[in-house]
Amino acid sequence: MKDKKIVVASMNEGKIREFCEMFEPLGYTVLSLKDFPDMPEIEETGTTFAENAVIKAKAVTDRYGIRAISDDSGLEVEAFGNQPGVNSARWLGHDTSYTYKNQVILDRMKDEKDRRCRYVCAIALTDPGKEPVVFEDTAECLIAYEPAGSNGFGYDPIMYFEPLQKTMAEMTKDEKNEISHRGKAIRKLQEWLDENE
Ligand code: IMP
Repeated sequence: MKDKKIVVASMNEGKIREFCEMFEPLGYTVLSLKDFPDMPEIEETGTTFAENAVIKAKAVTDRYGIRAISDDSGLEVEAFGNQPGVNSARWLGHDTSYTYKNQVILDRMKDEKDRRCRYVCAIALTDPGKEPVVFEDTAECLIAYEPAGSNGFGYDPIMYFEPLQKTMAEMTKDEKNEISHRGKAIRKLQEWLDENE
């Protein structure tokens, strides 16, 4: 690998930090969209997590001729026909709190027996002149009957993970990382890099 620079196609501090932790020990200089203020806003027009992840990473690679990485994630609820899906962040409005979003889900699920749901994460890696590579994984959960826990973020307090008998928001960082959609997708990416570079 000659060019040891990678751009995380995101402005999200949490995502940038996670990818820094992964790539810096491998000798990469990790940049983000914050280092490219002239980058036009990237519209997430895909209908799947994988499509959106590729759109974001490819936009950076195409414009600057540099390796880029991006992730797209969200929540699918079986009883809602897998909504909110790719709209997870903007579902019920960008400005509504997750306390509110979570309560709406609990109310709508009040008499629902099928509580299956999952987090999905797709990570795209793009290199100039190459096809994008996508790594995807899920965390299969159940919608809890009430919120529990204060760790994590977003939908975590209502995402009950049966094998550990706790919600994602009751897990330690390491516990969540072990079983989470993002943790598992990142490990797939790591394995790919180990095998291919
Ligand atoms: P993205 O930034 O477009 O990938 O949006 C992901 C959205 O999905 C977040 O804003 C959350 O609403 C939700 N989400 C994804 N992963 C998690 C997680 O690990 N915990 C809580 N919410 C998550």
